[in-house]
Amino acid sequence: MRIALGVSGGIAAYKACEVVRGLFKAGAEVQVVMTRNAERFITPLTLQTLSGRRVLTDDWDDPDAVVQHIELSREIDAFVVAPATANVLAKFARGVADDFLSTFYISVTAPVVVAPAMNTRMLVHPSTRENLAALERRGVKIVPPGSGWLAERETGAGRLAEPDAIVEAALAAARRSSALEGRTVMVTAGPTREAIDPVRFVSNRSSGKMGYALAEAAQRRGARVILISGPVDLPPPFGVDVVRVESAVKMQQAVERHRPEVDTVFMAAAVGDYAPVAASSKLKKTGGPLELRLEEGPDILAGLGAHKDGLLLVGFAAETDDVLAYGQSKLERKNLDYIVVNDVSRSDIGFDADDNAVTILGRGREPLTVPKAQKSRIADAILDHVFASAGDA
Ligand SMILES: Cc1cc2nc3c(=O)[nH]c(=O)nc-3n(C[C@H](O)[C@H](O)[C@H](O)COP(=O)(O)O)c2cc1C
Repeated sequence: MRIALGVSGGIAAYKACEVVRGLFKAGAEVQVVMTRNAERFITPLTLQTLSGRRVLTDDWDDPDAVVQHIELSREIDAFVVAPATANVLAKFARGVADDFLSTFYISVTAPVVVAPAMNTRMLVHPSTRENLAALERRGVKIVPPGSGWLAERETGAGRLAEPDAIVEAALAAARRSSALEGRTVMVTAGPTREAIDPVRFVSNRSSGKMGYALAEAAQRRGARVILISGPVDLPPPFGVDVVRVESAVKMQQAVERHRPEVDTVFMAAAVGDYAPVAASSKLKKTGGPLELRLEEGPDILAGLGAHKDGLLLVGFAAETDDVLAYGQSKLERKNLDYIVVNDVSRSDIGFDADDNAVTILGRGREPLTVPKAQKSRIADAILDHVFASAGDA
């Protein structure tokens, strides 16, 4: 595994040493790229000694005269920048390429992780916030800064995240396999919104986190991934094609449109079962109760199950009682290959939580119980189980 570590000119540059050591200990080869200003805070010699490689600062001093930012961009599994200055974030967000680090960034196609570090005033400035949001939208993973004692002898947000957290994020971004190469996987995620009138809607508590984690995990295993997402507040996973929809009907249309391209579907979205007949103009207060009549919406999963043609179909069931019995009956009724069931009556797992605990039921297979863990780990367990039987663990 080869990781490029960018170091820019902030007071936390010395902590890059810990990041190099952590990556090295995990077995990664590390190529350090520094800005000129970073060299004012820490010498290239220190990082060169720790990484065992010549530090790169610009293209101009290369004895072999190769275009190093392009060469290196072809070889790496991930690019992590720690610390990332406000300046570097701005350059990355706008595509400014006026030194080695920023030119390298716009050459990289591997996943990018940035760990910002700066004084609180710089961090909360609208330009920094906008730059971070733009990077996140583009699939860059942000390791958020923590709060604590800052170099300016004051306390506040902006401290570089702990080196261990940065190492973990970089390794997670770099870890890929080719197990699902050649497969195209569709994942649906999040809630749907069913309009009552132009300003109001009926929805549910799904955060989309489980579906997004599955999409990310499948992409890391080499699958092409199409993520059909209801309205959620999550950044798009790196390398995944995201199709955004609002209502159950729009989700059904998107699923049907992409169905011919895919061999596997994970229906993790919490699709609204019922929808009001939407009023074309805003409903006014009448001084009395308002009755809403709800009509049953499309059953996307059953539709897929009815015409499988070799499709590997995985459903999800979020239930509050008789979770396993309900899951088993849904598996059979909707002609699924697997169903992932979870108990959403628990507040520590399921809807909107970062953790989940599930049981995977499959045709002709023993149920697999995956105990409480982060949704990214649950996603890996689901993929391991589902694709092991298809021969592509
Ligand atoms: C003592 C000192 C400490 C600094 N610390 C930070 C910092 O922690 N974060 C930051 O974004 N900028 C910091 N700056 C400002 C950057 O060094 C400055 O914006 C510079 O242009 C960044 O260059 P680079 O992004 O090319 O490395 C600091 C400047 C000085 C003089």
